[in-house]
Amino acid sequence: MTPTQNTLWWQRGVIYQIYPRSFVDTNGDGIGDLPGVIERLSYLSDTLGVDAIWLSPIYPSPMQDFGYDVANYTDIDPLFGDLATFDRLLVAAHQHGLKVIIDWVPNHTSDQHPWFRESRSSHSSSRRDWYVWRDPKADGAPPNNWLSFFGGPAWTWDAATEQYYLHSFLSCMPDLNWRNPDVQSAMFDIVRFWLDRGVDGLRIDTAHYIMKDRDLRDNPPNPAQGYAMHRAMGDYDSQLHLYDKGDPDVHAIFRDLRRLLDDYSHEQPRMAIGEIHIYDWPTWAGYYGQHSDELHMPYNFGLLNIPWEAQAVRRLVETLEATLAPNDWPNYVLGNHDEPRIASRVGAAQAQVALLLLLTLRGTPTLYYGDELGMENTPIAPDQVQDPWERNVPGLGLGRDGERTPMQWTNEPHAGFCPPDVAPWLPVAPYAATMNVARQLQEPHSMLSLTRQALALRRTSEALGSGGYQTVANTPDDCFVYLRDTAQEQMVIALNFSNEARDIDLSKFGAAMLALSTYLDRSGSVDAASLTLRPNEGCVLRIEAER
Ligand code: NOJ
Repeated sequence: MTPTQNTLWWQRGVIYQIYPRSFVDTNGDGIGDLPGVIERLSYLSDTLGVDAIWLSPIYPSPMQDFGYDVANYTDIDPLFGDLATFDRLLVAAHQHGLKVIIDWVPNHTSDQHPWFRESRSSHSSSRRDWYVWRDPKADGAPPNNWLSFFGGPAWTWDAATEQYYLHSFLSCMPDLNWRNPDVQSAMFDIVRFWLDRGVDGLRIDTAHYIMKDRDLRDNPPNPAQGYAMHRAMGDYDSQLHLYDKGDPDVHAIFRDLRRLLDDYSHEQPRMAIGEIHIYDWPTWAGYYGQHSDELHMPYNFGLLNIPWEAQAVRRLVETLEATLAPNDWPNYVLGNHDEPRIASRVGAAQAQVALLLLLTLRGTPTLYYGDELGMENTPIAPDQVQDPWERNVPGLGLGRDGERTPMQWTNEPHAGFCPPDVAPWLPVAPYAATMNVARQLQEPHSMLSLTRQALALRRTSEALGSGGYQTVANTPDDCFVYLRDTAQEQMVIALNFSNEARDIDLSKFGAAMLALSTYLDRSGSVDAASLTLRPNEGCVLRIEAER
């Protein structure tokens, strides 16, 4: 891949995802809030060194799906603050050099949104067609076989108006009908509302769901009994989800959205990153647009979908590099509020390797809050379950509460997330007294120290920030080694996925200086002809001599 120069903030920068409920609670209700985010901006920009924050939804909401059930797109839920607090956050973030990305939830609203209330009021409502209403089949059954992602049918019967409405997620989250141009124009007005306030970007929730098959055809059965996503999801896996999402008509909407964002980008470049859970890479890459004229980036969840093995990761990266058009900018994710934490998935030692991978691959990394500490999934007792998915489909391990527990700041009660006499909305991890920001800042070899150093290195290295990618061949099977380079700078990243030492021959690169080891205990010149990676060690080497 040719090195790219003149990158924009969302290409060069690192995005940090904040789940606002779980970040900092300043008003003592056990739930994080926007003043809490404002308070920690200097942690994010100065101490940690990220470049942008993505806030999961903060809109007024009944909170059945913790904010993804939006009741008003142009206000802030009082739990988090108000519009004035949001404006303050935006100004303060920009002063700290941080861009702000908000979650835009276009597929569905809450059933408490005035649009839906109006829509369900009668067949003749002017907003009836803003949602997907259908008559029952002759036997009273739902119009087709579609299933809700969160369990059960995707249709709920409305007794008052004797029709079914569609909901890809909870029944209290009805899907908007994007085939109605008024819906598009109302949802685009909402985008303008936030861009006018000064937000820098949108994370688009379940972006590919917004267009469904025009004829609402039944999904075919899944003959292979494979997963619909990257993990077993019970009944949802019984179908191939061909018709309930990802209809090609969605691309016209994203082209329109891109034009809107471009119109706003003359002074301040704006961007959209879409949540696209598609693992067929050419189809996924289609969301950049045939002429790179749709989403700036579809989120790439590939690393969550493969075994944690060096060759599997290498193959994924090579596939993506080969799939992307020259103007399509890659991105990588190792965790978010829907996925088990990376440290739980691969273990603490490999979590360091994973972090170095995330921060050195070509493309924009998104770092999930707490992963900079190595936070693990917190076990949630049955009577503490909050996540509606776990409640609807228990026993499959789908619950997401474990990765949403409060951020661990100090060794005070509740890890400094909320006042001591207040119960946090989810339990704080049992090991928080020994794994928290305050403590890890004091520990030279902590995960936080590693994250800070890796971010600092990325920031000062053109090769890491915007250089090309090439796999380095002839390395041990359980290591993944690659080159990031510009005309001026070459960096080799060598990652040992095994828990044994491995020797790597990098003699073809000449002399090398060790810029960073995940062990944080060595630097300076190394013998490139025989570099020994210790168990679970990842290294970044700066190539010194001509090749
Ligand atoms: C994807 C979001 O990331 C998830 O948290 C939410 O439950 C669904 N979309 C529905 O909005």
